[in-house]
Amino acid sequence: MPDDKTVMIAIESLAKTFTLHLRGSVELRVLQAFSMQVETGECVVLRAPSGTGKSTVLRSVSGNYRIGGGRVAVRHEGEMVDLSAASPRTVMEIRRNTIGYVSQFLRVIPRVSALDVVAEPLMARGVPTDEARERAGTMLGRLHIPAKMWDLPPATFSGGEQQRVNIARVLAVDYPILLLDEPTASLDDANRALVLDLVREARERGAAILAILHDEASRAAVATRYVDLAPLEAAA
Ligand SMILES: Nc1ncnc2c1ncn2[C@@H]1O[C@H](COP(=O)(O)OP(=O)(O)OP(=O)(O)O)[C@@H](O)[C@H]1O
Ligand SMILES: [Mg+2]
Repeated sequence: MPDDKTVMIAIESLAKTFTLHLRGSVELRVLQAFSMQVETGECVVLRAPSGTGKSTVLRSVSGNYRIGGGRVAVRHEGEMVDLSAASPRTVMEIRRNTIGYVSQFLRVIPRVSALDVVAEPLMARGVPTDEARERAGTMLGRLHIPAKMWDLPPATFSGGEQQRVNIARVLAVDYPILLLDEPTASLDDANRALVLDLVREARERGAAILAILHDEASRAAVATRYVDLAPLEAAA
């Protein structure tokens, strides 16, 4: 039987060093020679102690981050595209159409309604306004954001509500690739279960998912495979 799995994310020998300008330009080496791949239908959970560089790996794949060395490629419209060699225009298209990214820290929420925050990426992909807003409402409803809040800007929502709006915004779109950085960190058990259900559904429709999840129960609920990121020895 032919193997219908397709590599969607390929990380080869990724390196990243931060230069700490406020500390006399000390170099902080975070990643070195890190390689992994994610295929369609996989949910790979990246594990490592806090501060090792898990979020740095996701940001490197997200297309808005300069890597220090190696290669990060994602499948975009059928072709593997090397992110550091791609034109700004291609990177923009990848971020609009191919990669959905839920970051560890909440994005600044604009002064638009929760419904429009969630509908906006759908409309950017050409979904008509009515349909985009309907799909946005369905996703907010599934994440237990009450309909009476949909017309309000999420700025005054609770931390967990804002996190669910951010998740709805990404999971309302059927991105081929999902990068999820602690998407359930500030949620209670019931809301965490809702998010994990959506992640599993995305995996089942064939998304390639690279996730960081803090707790063991969440990992077990969605992971198809684990990758352990080894801490680098502290540079002398
Ligand atoms: N923009 C930056 N400038 C300087 N140092 C940074 C920057 N981003 C990350 N670092 C450093 O890189 C290291 C790895 O950070 P990263 O956020 O990738 O860790 P993590 O594994 O995601 O940790 P956590 O589990 O706590 O989220 C940390 O020591 C951090 O201080
Ligand atoms: Mg992190």
